[in-house]
This record gives sequence, C-alpha cells and structure tokens, in this order.
Amino acid sequence: MHDINHQLDEKRERARLGGGQKRIDAQHAKGKLTARERIEVLLDAGTFEEWDMFKEHRCVDFGMDAAEKIPGDGVVTGYGTINGRMVFVFSQDFTVFGGALSETHAEKICKIMDHAMKVGCPVIGLNDSGGARIQEGVAALGGYADVFQRNVMASGVIPQISMIMGPSAGGAVYSPSMTDFIFMVKDSSYMFVTGPEVVKTVTHEEVTAEELGGAITHTTKSGVADLAFENDVDALLMLRRFFNYLPQNNREKVPVRPTSDPAERLDYSLDTLVPENANKPYDIKELILKTVDDGDFFELQPGYAQNIVIGFGRMEGQTVGVVANQPMVMAGCLDIKSSIKAARFVRFCDAFNIPIITFVDVPGFMPGTSQEYGGIIKHGAKLLYAYAECTVPKVTVITRKAYGGAYDVMASKHLRGDVNLAWPSAEIAVMGAKGAVEIIFREDKNDPGKLAAREAEYKAKFANPFVAGARGFIDDVIQPHETRKRICRSLAMLRNKKIENPWRKHGNIPL
Ligand code: HXC
Repeated sequence: MHDINHQLDEKRERARLGGGQKRIDAQHAKGKLTARERIEVLLDAGTFEEWDMFKEHRCVDFGMDAAEKIPGDGVVTGYGTINGRMVFVFSQDFTVFGGALSETHAEKICKIMDHAMKVGCPVIGLNDSGGARIQEGVAALGGYADVFQRNVMASGVIPQISMIMGPSAGGAVYSPSMTDFIFMVKDSSYMFVTGPEVVKTVTHEEVTAEELGGAITHTTKSGVADLAFENDVDALLMLRRFFNYLPQNNREKVPVRPTSDPAERLDYSLDTLVPENANKPYDIKELILKTVDDGDFFELQPGYAQNIVIGFGRMEGQTVGVVANQPMVMAGCLDIKSSIKAARFVRFCDAFNIPIITFVDVPGFMPGTSQEYGGIIKHGAKLLYAYAECTVPKVTVITRKAYGGAYDVMASKHLRGDVNLAWPSAEIAVMGAKGAVEIIFREDKNDPGKLAAREAEYKAKFANPFVAGARGFIDDVIQPHETRKRICRSLAMLRNKKIENPWRKHGNIPL
C-alpha cells in the first residue's frame, strides 16, 4: 500500500514538472510564471482541485511515439475559488510542446467547460500556446473546433474570460475572441491570425510581433483586448478583482459586496462639473467616480474609442455596468468604434443581469466619409439594437447634450429606459442650436444678427430638459449633487424588474 502511495506522489511530482526544469527556467527568464504558478496566484490559496493530471497525448506521427510523454499534455485544468466563489480554470503550459493544443489537450479544456456549464460557473482561460500541435494535424484542429463550439454554447450562460499570457496565433485566437473579456500581459503576449513572416510574404509589410499583435496594439488600435497589464502577477491579481463584479451565471443575481458608502450621499462638487460654455469639455469619469460606491470603478478598454467610457462599478454593493459619453474626446460623439465597444458591453450586462447606468452627453453621430464608408449606419445600429433589446434595469442621466439619433440610442425612454433623469444643464434636441438655425433659417444666412437672434430663440426653446420633461421622456430633472441618491433609489425600485422579449430563435443584430 505504501508503495502505491509513493508511486502516486512520484507521478504527481513528474506531472508538476511539466516540460522540465530547463524549460521552467526559460519561462521564468522571459519574466513569465509557469502554468501552475499562475493558477496559484489566481485562485484562493489551497483551493485548486486539478483534473486530468495524468492525461497523455495519443499522437504517433513525426516521432511523437518515441518522444517522452509528459503527463497533463500541456494544459493544467480544474476548479477552485476566487474570493470564495467557484471558477473553472485552464492554464496552458508553454514548457510542454510550447503549450500547443493537441486532441487530448483540447479534451481537457472541453471537460472543464462542460462541467462549468453543468454547475453554472465562470471559466477562465490562461492562454500561453504555440497554437495547434503541428504533429497532430487535423486531430488538433478538431480539438480547437470542439472548444469553439463550447465557447459559443456557453456565451451568455456563464461568463468566460481569457487572459493572454504568451503567444496566441492562428486559429487559436478565435477561442479567446468568443469569450466575454480578453486581457493581455504587456511585452509577453501577442495575438494574431497570421504572424509577421506571413504578413511580409503576402502584403510586404515589415512588422514585429509586438506591433502586429501585442497588448498595446490590441488595447489601443484593434479593440480586441479589454485591458493590458504590466506582468503576470499584476494581471492575475487584477483578474481576481475583476471577477468579483461578475455573477456566476445568467440565472444568478449580481454579487453583493458590503459598502459603507451611503446610498443617500450628496456630492455638491458635481453642481459645477458641467462648464457654462456648452462647447467646453469636462471629464465624465469624474461623475462616474463620484457616483459609484467608494469611487471604485473598473474601466474596460480605457485606451480604445475613448469617446465612450465603459466599465463596472457598484451601487449599494451591487454590480452595475456604466456606459458614458466622454466629452473630453471628440466631444463625446458616437462613431463606429465607440458604438461597437458600448454595444458589446451592454449585451454582456444584459445577458448577466447587470443593471446599466448610462450617462449621456452626446452631440450626435460622427459625420464624415470615413464613418459613412466604414458603415456607421450598421455599426451605430448595434448600440441602438443592444439598448433596445436589453431587459435589465436601465437608468439614464443626461448631463448636457442629447442630440439627434444619439439621444434615442443612449438608453432613452423610447428604448425602454426605466428611469430617465436629466440635469438642469441638459439640452435635448434634434441638434445644436447653431446647426439647427443654419438649416431652418437658411434665408437669413447672410445676416449674422438675425441668425444670432434665431439661435438664441432656438436655444431658449430646446436647450433644456423641460420640453422632454413635458412629454414624460424625462422622469425628473435633478440637481447634479443628488445623482447618486437618485440612481440608488431607482435601482432599488427596479430590483425585481421583469420584462420579456417575444419568443424567437434569435434576433438579427446588425453585425
Ligand atoms: C508543436 C510546438 C508548437 C506547435 C511550439 N512548439 N509551437 N510544438 N506544435 N504548434 C514547440 C517548439 O517546437 C519547441 O519545442 C517548444 O514548443 C518551444 O517553442 P520555441 O519555438 O522554442 O519557443 P519560442 O522561441 O518562444 O517561440 C514560440 C512560438 C514558436 C512563437 C509560439 O514556437 C512558433 O512559431 N510556433 C509555431 C506557431 C504556429 O505556427 N502554430 C500553428 C498555428 S496554426 P522544443 O522541443 O524545440 O523546445 C493554428 C491552427 C489552429 O494554430 C486552427 C484552429 C482553427
């Protein structure tokens, strides 16, 4: 009996070594943790239950039958807790065949995804892989597709998060891209469909892996990734913090974290946030930080489409999603990138019962050929569609401009906004006064005095929240300092909100 126990210990020891000490040292030399060390940082101490530690590949081609079989086959899988809440994890081991995905490696990932679906737990993937195990050919490709299929089935049922901590190339990028959030580690992770060599051959562009698909590229240029972190430890600790905002699945309510921040807290500094001059910018993040519990806001995609701000906060301890136009960037206009960024976020919140607070200061959709040729009609419609489809509690506060189609889009009453509030500085109109009079009083265009008078008249009539209020499109005009209090009360009132969309197989969002 003792011998058998001893053998087990030896086998475990062997599996824990992965590709061996030399490769572990090489991993550390690159500033990266190993697959197991990453899990240790991510999960609560001592909670990890590992599965399939002894699983081995079945490949016999290209010398794989002669090569040493490494138990676990390049991925560590199992479950544990983050701050006491259950999560399934897979962590690819670059020290074993470069973390390449074999048929058996894929089976391990699929197994934990299936279990996560059964018990309603999120899945976190720590990706560090050279892609499909080249020696296996189509068996590895099939393994990828098995994972893809599960990603899609799990979408909107359990949260899925990808942390890219090394290479992710070729078709391998498509599993992360179908998860809800992608985070990356600076300088050591990259994602691309085709690498720099292929790019050079096909398009004659010279580009480094970092430029093509590094963390900065994907968090500022492509918008593929949500956040970039400094190193493995920073990334994993931030992921723990992020996880706290998410519910376990689409049937659960959002988690609640006790707060000492009073729901009725007033903030008089907000009364002077909006400048007198309507064309002057101000930072909408100040309003967000002064509204959410304890000024704690987890912003996503802060470096991409900065004309809109998205992220998670809490109100009276409960997670909320915040969407806000940012007057500091492009005057807060909606364009293609910001519409897509916010639409996807709204849909995540809706899928996982997270109420949405929308702060509106938007002069409209961005004009111009580049936007029209790029399809702003279709992409702007994504945000419109997402808000209109959404059934979670929606509380909207218009701080200043709400012009044109963008007024409609930004969680207006007409798109089933539950509580629509406005500050006294709100201007709800088809467009700004200057543009409006230039169109409707074209005959006065050579008479600046007359135009100015018309503009003043238009402003007096429409540059306020009361016309919309008179129609009930705005439920109340509030003092800026009471914003938090009014939102908390609204959310409390909406806690048991229930509405359903008509039955259908699925809608047809303008993709
Ligand atoms: C098998 C692989 C591998 C792979 C790396 N290795 N990638 N083994 N299949 N895909 C092995 C290497 O042979 C090496 O083994 C060890 O892992 C470490 O790799 P290195 O090259 O020494 O490391 P590094 O210099 O850091 O380079 C990492 C890398 C490079 C950039 C990932 O290995 C690479 O380019 N790999 C191939 C990437 C690729 O083309 N993959 C297929 C993509 S197509 P030894 O024993 O020498 O240490 C794809 C299709 C999916 O994934 C489609 C789904 C739809």
